Amino acid sequence: MLSFSVMNTADNPYKSLESTLGNRFVGRNLLYFPGVTSTMDIARQEARRGAPEGTVVIAGEQTLGRGRSHRTWLTPPDNIALSVVLYPEVSWLPYLVMIASLSVVRCIESITGLTAGIKWPNDILIDGKKISGILIENEISRDKKVPAVVGIGINVDLGEAVIEGSALPATSLETEAGKAIDKVALVISLLTELERLYLQLPEYHTIFKEWQSRLVTLGKRVVVTDGDKVMEGIAESVDEAGAILLVLDDGSVTRIIGGDVTLR
Ligand code: BTN
Repeated sequence: MLSFSVMNTADNPYKSLESTLGNRFVGRNLLYFPGVTSTMDIARQEARRGAPEGTVVIAGEQTLGRGRSHRTWLTPPDNIALSVVLYPEVSWLPYLVMIASLSVVRCIESITGLTAGIKWPNDILIDGKKISGILIENEISRDKKVPAVVGIGINVDLGEAVIEGSALPATSLETEAGKAIDKVALVISLLTELERLYLQLPEYHTIFKEWQSRLVTLGKRVVVTDGDKVMEGIAESVDEAGAILLVLDDGSVTRIIGGDVTLR
């Protein structure tokens, strides 16, 4: 059940984005909701209605935020939860997670001065703790372009909220930086980087190289859970489709497209 709230009310903290964001399309159509179930649902509905590419659905608070593998994603007030509607070519789908992860890393580093890394496939960490998660959902389509929704959650200030159900400890930018963080500046930087990288996508080699260099998973002993399958080994490398190559204890190499990784 979706809960829609009044858009662009006077207390919309992102109102200034209309005049400050210099993007061509990402964030030009910005829909703010003080409280929603999940920005993914609204963004998907917008995509089905043919919303312009780059439409951003942003929430003050989510009551039913979701993560990968049917996990819950908690978004108390003062944190960032947004979803972006894109219509990429089918062949670009594997790179969406790379551009989303890199956008988050770049915006965190430029606004807070903290250093962030990527845990394959799409967790953003600071000092081994989870600061941000990315969820990508796309429609199945025979057309050349596929409606896709890129969902990004960033913990800015978790307050007393207790994050459960994650294999990783969670943290927030304000905890790590020890100071207040400007959420609006963070969103401007995030959307700017996302558009820049998306426009660069036809040259995905450069994006892949930067994404690969930011992975904290490579060379480590990991357990990968992919549905019912659980595999343990050394995360040797990733390929350009974003899959991880795992060297198992018997020396064989297995290629895994998606899954959850636990660092050992
Ligand atoms: C994960 O780490 O498993 C992914 C978390 C993705 C959370 C974001 S917050 C904005 C968007 N709305 C949701 O319900 N989920 C994504």
